[in-house]
Formats: sequence, C-alpha cells, structure tokens
Amino acid sequence: MAKKTFQTVRGTRDLLPKDNKYFDFIFDQYVSEAKNAGFSKIETPMFEDTNLFVRGVGRETDIVEKEMYTFKDKSGNSITLRPEGTAPIVRAYLEDGMQAWPQPVSLYYSSPMFRYDRPQAGRYREFYQFGVEVIGSMSPLIDVSLISMSWRVLEKIGLKDITLQVNSIGCPSCRPKYRRMLSAYITDNAKKLCKNCLKRSKTNPLRVLDCKEKVCRLLMEDAPILINNLCTECHNHFKEVLEWLDDLEIPYELNTKLVRGLDYYTKTVFEIWTKSQGAQNSLGGGGRYDELVETMGGKATPAIGFAMGIDRIVELMKEQEIQLPEERLAEVYVVQLGDEAKKKGFKLLNELQKSGIRTQGGLDKDGISEQLKIASNLGAVYSVIIGQKEAMSGTAIIKEMSSGNQEVVAIEKVVKELIKRLKD
Ligand code: HAM
Repeated sequence: MAKKTFQTVRGTRDLLPKDNKYFDFIFDQYVSEAKNAGFSKIETPMFEDTNLFVRGVGRETDIVEKEMYTFKDKSGNSITLRPEGTAPIVRAYLEDGMQAWPQPVSLYYSSPMFRYDRPQAGRYREFYQFGVEVIGSMSPLIDVSLISMSWRVLEKIGLKDITLQVNSIGCPSCRPKYRRMLSAYITDNAKKLCKNCLKRSKTNPLRVLDCKEKVCRLLMEDAPILINNLCTECHNHFKEVLEWLDDLEIPYELNTKLVRGLDYYTKTVFEIWTKSQGAQNSLGGGGRYDELVETMGGKATPAIGFAMGIDRIVELMKEQEIQLPEERLAEVYVVQLGDEAKKKGFKLLNELQKSGIRTQGGLDKDGISEQLKIASNLGAVYSVIIGQKEAMSGTAIIKEMSSGNQEVVAIEKVVKELIKRLKD
C-alpha cells in the first residue's frame, strides 16, 4: 500500500516559482526604495522570548491574546514565533547598543511572520512582511517620508483602487482624557455594541472605533473624535504631517477612526487599504511608537515604522492582472547531440555560467528539435549547438533564436563571442 503523503500545515503554503516571481519583485521594489533612502538591513531571530511581545505589542491586543504561536522549549522557556517585527527590532536596538549609533537608526527587513489567525484568502498563519523602522527621530518629516515610501511603491507597481488612510492617535498626555470621553460615550450606548466590543470596550475602548460590525460603525459615527482632542504637541505634529502630504501631492484620506491593532502606537498612524479582498483590506500599515523604546527598558526615544503585507500585495497584483517585467530564464541554451558533444556541451555550459551569462542546457535530452523548442520557451537569445560533427571538429554553431541565423565558431571562442554579442 502506498504511504500517506504529507501536506502543509493549515494556514501555511508553498511559494512556488510562479509565486516567488511576484514576491521577489515586490520585495526588490521596497528594498531598493529603502536603500536609496539610506536604510540598512536587519534580520532578527524568527522566535523570541514570549514576554517581548506581551510587553511590546500589548497584553490586550488580538495578536497577544489570540494569535501567537507560543510554546515551551526543552528547557521550559516560553518562546513565541515572531508575529511582527517592531518589538524585536526595538529589542535589538537596545541589546546591540544602537542607541550609541548616529541617530536616527534606519533599518529595513523582509521577513516571514507568524499569527494563529483563522486562515482565508489574504490571511495566512505564515506570511511575509517588508518593514522599516526609524528609531531616534521626532521629526514629522520622517513620518511623511515613510508614508510616502509605503505608498509610492504600490503606485509605481500600478495597483488600482487603493487608498491611504491617515490619523493621529495622540500620546500619553492627551489620550487618557480622550479615552475617558470615549468610554463615557460607549457606556451610555453599551446596549448597541457588538459582543466583542462590549468586552474590549473596558480594556481598550479605542478598538471599538475601527470595529467592522455595522452596529458599532453606526454608533461610532457620533463618537467624540480624537484629533479634536489632541494636545498642542500632537496637534502641531499632525498638522505638519498633513501639510507635507498635501505638498508632496500624496493622496490621503483623513480617517479619524483609524487606531491600528497594536498598543505601541502614538501620534501618526496610517494604513493602505484596497477595496477588494473583503475584510482583509489592509495591504500595510504603521505609525509612530514614541514610547516603545522606554517600555522595553531603554531611555525615551521616539520612533516610527511600517510593514507591508507582501502576500496581500501579490494577490492584488494577480487579481488586477498586473504583469511583471519580462524575465529571461536563460540568455543562452546549450544544445548537444551524442556522448562527445555532451561532454563538450557540459564544459561550455559551466564556462558560460561562470562568466555571468544565464545559461541552461539540454544535458539530459537527445533530440535537437526538442532542445531548440525548450530554448525558445525559456526566451533564450542564442542557442549553441554541438552535434557529432562539431564535437569532432572542435567547433559549435551559434544560432540567434529570433532570426534563425547561424554561424560556426571554434569552441574555445564561443564564450568570448557570446559575451560580445549579448553586450551589443
Ligand atoms: P500590522 O498591521 O499588524 O502591523 O501588519 C502589517 C501588514 O501585514 C498588514 O497590513 C497586512 O497586510 C499584513 N498581515 C498581517 N497579518 C497577516 C496575515 N495573517 N496574513 C497575511 N498578511 C498579514 C505590524 O505588523 C507592525 N509591526 C507594523 C509597524 C512597523 N508599525 C511600526 N513599525
């Protein structure tokens, strides 16, 4: 009896070459933007001390309450697979002495994250983020630069029907007063709340603001508005952010109900939404977290960042039929016929690859027409044909695939000749 085969764990998936083409493309776009703006790459471990996320992201957030992959390792330590990148990077900032570096420290990452959420289209238990963090600056210009970076890549890719949502959620000096106002409003209307909000209104009333349930949305239409209750510092900071966004002609929507699901945020918050994908409409988001470095044990240091959900961006690109720039899988294809030609062809293939030419070869194939067909499917510009006659005479045929023109060349001159032709 055939043995049972294995399958990926629920909520995870293989990214096959056809998917990776898209993932690599989007990562490359963001990485190149980040590098142009002076960011350097950071990689933190895929798992961390569970308390890092409890303290960093917040005990009462959905991530910590419901979505963490937490387990005890063999020494009995509580370990959590990274659900997000910001808390680990702040840990690294403190642990690796980055406070002593010239400030601000600007870092980027392209990493898998893990959340135990109910899987559906656009929502996975392992997913990929591109993110940036700028630690050590209070300037609203940094907010604007990051919002602009997150937005312009999606615009450049050509995504349609996306919007940029922006809000300010204040700071510890103005938010408590607002929280009390909102709590009073919610208590007066508690009967109209959904079950989930009724529960979380006690611990985190701000989350009621962005609840997707219709009853809560209706109720929140008349709720007190946070940006009308900001302290002078938060008000001026946000005003400058909006003025610069206007100045740079970045089309944003002021969304006074946007609060984000992680507890560390202060002042500016933003998200990029798509109209498709139903509830999974957030392609990325971020904001300031001016208190987090201190919460994690460092000295007070302002910071801001964002993370883009690459899986969702890929899905939207496919849905909107956005084509990737054409990529040649091979510039040259080596075609051979017979044992002697195979030996020479294999050596030539290695030499071509060594000189940086993208080369494949029909080393396990025997028919010339079959190999030429593969060459043309791969988009090869040239094929090099070594038949029995060429193998005997130490020559090879260089065939230009588009015109069919052929030329016989001494085999030791093939590499040089192809380098020259591909450069022209
Ligand atoms: P977040 O909003 O939790 O923020 O995640 C950012 C993006 O990751 C989301 O907008 C979404 O596109 C994607 N994402 C989240 N969960 C899933 C999932 N289960 N499946 C697929 N994609 C998902 C953060 O993670 C913050 N650390 C961002 C940040 C950086 N804030 C400041 N610095």
